[in-house]
Amino acid sequence: MSDKKLPCSSAHMRELADRLPTPFYLYDERGILDAVRDMKVAFAWAPGFRNYFAVKACPNPTILSLLAKEGFGADCSSLPELLLAKSSGITGEMIMFTSNDTPDEEFSEAVRLGAIVNLDDITHIEALERSVEKLPELICFRYNPGPKRTGNAIIGNPVEAKYGVTDDQIVECYRIMKEKGCKRFGLHTMVASNELDGSYIVETARMLFSLCVRIQREAGVRIEFIDMGGGIGIPYRPDQDAMDLKAVSTGMRALYEQIVVPAGLDPLNIVFECGRVVTGPYGYLVSKVRHVTRKYKDYVGLDACMADLMRPALYGAYHHISVVGKEADPFDHVYDVTGSLCENNDKFAIDRKLPLIERNDILVLHDAGAHGYAMGFNYNAKLRPAEYLLKSDGSVVMIRRAQTYDDYVETLRFSGAPVEV
Ligand SMILES: Cc1ncc(COP(=O)(O)O)c(C=O)c1O
Repeated sequence: MSDKKLPCSSAHMRELADRLPTPFYLYDERGILDAVRDMKVAFAWAPGFRNYFAVKACPNPTILSLLAKEGFGADCSSLPELLLAKSSGITGEMIMFTSNDTPDEEFSEAVRLGAIVNLDDITHIEALERSVEKLPELICFRYNPGPKRTGNAIIGNPVEAKYGVTDDQIVECYRIMKEKGCKRFGLHTMVASNELDGSYIVETARMLFSLCVRIQREAGVRIEFIDMGGGIGIPYRPDQDAMDLKAVSTGMRALYEQIVVPAGLDPLNIVFECGRVVTGPYGYLVSKVRHVTRKYKDYVGLDACMADLMRPALYGAYHHISVVGKEADPFDHVYDVTGSLCENNDKFAIDRKLPLIERNDILVLHDAGAHGYAMGFNYNAKLRPAEYLLKSDGSVVMIRRAQTYDDYVETLRFSGAPVEV
């Protein structure tokens, strides 16, 4: 069971929602820091343990700097993410560049920053070579096990995935890079997303540990670190349990002793690039009720819409909803909770049991701290919301202002000023 509590008292949340323009995102610093520390404690035994926070999950420099202070790096997938990491004080090998279908100029910038380049394909060796003057000393490859693993429901079957180097190619990749003069090597994979079954993660460790042994045997290349990717899930539904990270860590440690140590590969550093488990449960989308309507069903219309949080419309994802101040009321009404987009799938919840809802009630969507704001968009010219941080001392600071109409039209050329190309 997971508690779906607000990060502050109902009265404080109501006061914030009355004072600040809704909708807005609120992140709970204390929750994020606790999650970071839980992860570090669980993997304290693991050589070189580090999480490269997946910037795509929550691309806000205040959050990235907060995580950097705790020793986390940044996992970047594009040039703007690389630049965001740099502006947040994260540099060099604290950056993992895990991209795919990568433009040459992104490889150049990653190498210029001294980031760890994680190649997604055997042909990207050539792309990297033509993008940089000198190959980096350290190189990593993303492995796709194909039929050897089943993937999970969200990320899909590895055979169908566009990512990674195949099982047939992986040893060759290291052989080539060794011949080209690379001296240090990493091995990455990501075969699950939002996975709550810890045994899946342990199996991924088994797969990578064994592959390190094979690469050593067949290519004479010693892998310095494995990157387990992201994909640790969070309990979006109240009846789900969080993954037991300590149990996962214990399972991985046993495999480390069984596979890595006897092969003479100890120390083998272990890193992750998790986003969701770090910030997901500690981000809230706070929204006000505009209209309660009765058609063939009962609807609650919010001032937030799927342009602010796309996961429910995109994946049918469940996000728990609290009605501020009505936590103890009976959940004896059934509503579809919608936004105002001209899209009928602009729904945060369908047939959701909630207390009686009235205009101006404050609804808080839980678990929006990862892949929430980041996935937003501007359809129907909806402007993006602000982001605030609830600090550990109880104060609230703005960490991104809301988009304005002027921001929205900044890239447009109005009819009086077209630009000839
Ligand atoms: C390559 C890669 N690494 C890390 C992540 C982060 O995943 P999560 O936030 O679920 O931990 C993702 C998510 O899409 C990803 O594609």
